[in-house]
Amino acid sequence: MLVDGFAGPGRYKEGEEGSPLIMLHLLASHPVLERIPDVRFVCLFIEQDSRRVAYLEQEAAKVTLPANVEVIIKEGRFEEVFSGLVEGITNGRSLIPTFAFIDPFGYTGASMTLTGRFLDFKRSEALFFLPLSYINRFVGRDGQATALNALFETEEWQELVPLSGDGRKLALLKLFETQLRRQGQVRHVISFELRTLDGNDYRLVFATQHPTGLKLMKNAMWSVDPHQGTRYIATRTGSGQEVLFQPQPDTGPLLEALRNIFGSRWFSVAEAVQALDTDALPWCAEKHLRRLTLVPAEKNDLIEVCRPNGRRAGTFTEDVRVRFKGDGDGLDSPRS
Ligand SMILES: C[S@@+](CC[C@H](N)C(=O)[O-])C[C@H]1O[C@@H](n2cnc3c(N)ncnc32)[C@H](O)[C@@H]1O
Repeated sequence: MLVDGFAGPGRYKEGEEGSPLIMLHLLASHPVLERIPDVRFVCLFIEQDSRRVAYLEQEAAKVTLPANVEVIIKEGRFEEVFSGLVEGITNGRSLIPTFAFIDPFGYTGASMTLTGRFLDFKRSEALFFLPLSYINRFVGRDGQATALNALFETEEWQELVPLSGDGRKLALLKLFETQLRRQGQVRHVISFELRTLDGNDYRLVFATQHPTGLKLMKNAMWSVDPHQGTRYIATRTGSGQEVLFQPQPDTGPLLEALRNIFGSRWFSVAEAVQALDTDALPWCAEKHLRRLTLVPAEKNDLIEVCRPNGRRAGTFTEDVRVRFKGDGDGLDSPRS
């Protein structure tokens, strides 16, 4: 099931598609769909404004969808419709694998408790659109406590009020991510920065239980930001990434991160892959580890490499062992 909790009208005045239409088009054109005709997809769009609901109904009806995709549009408040849905199935039954997009346009209505109850279900994932600069602006003002307590599911945000500037903004993001990590069965939380033309800072914050979900989200982030995989800055030309040449991923910091993790000890490529299969580092093992990081590091004589017999020079299969040069006494063996 794909849920858009704050769906909007589907299309805006200038013709731009909103999230429900983007979702439907992507789903309808997804190459995997043909291979799984027996899997049923339900798209649930929730919107509280009746005019927007009517518009969305018209727009959604224009999309040609495969027979196994069903669209349900519910008029109502996300908190009520979604919690009704979650409550209705908590009774010993399990939820079908569900991805929920939560884009409340502000921060009221997207309570952590509600999302937490949903994230209790196996195979559920959530993507938040977090208006970070907006939260940062309001955090010190009167009358915001109820909404902020619900958003963070803690009063700890109050301790951050005396901080200022970017420090406070990033501390608020960290608190949100930490709270999300505590919910249900969440195992990984990863964020992506979106800067609008007017300089506002939004974050897409993704919570998942499954390493594959994390991998796919990292890949999506790198497809938007081929340089760092962490942000998109809007420009007047319409794209934050419009450049003459595709920027190369910046993997220097990945090498440094590996050096920080493994120091001067021998480690296997499998261990390095494992380190990247977490939300602590933004890089993807398949995309960044071998050709873009370990191969040049070996060429530049930054690492020692020990390959089992039969492995070709230059290969970094999981059983290959590696050690950073320059540290340590050089006496320990690759097996230690
Ligand atoms: C930021 S817009 C969503 C935009 C949408 N994701 C898109 O890409 O077009 C937020 C929408 O949520 C609706 N809304 C606000 N509070 C709501 C609530 N509590 N429950 C459901 N919808 C709500 C608003 O009417 C508005 O259409």
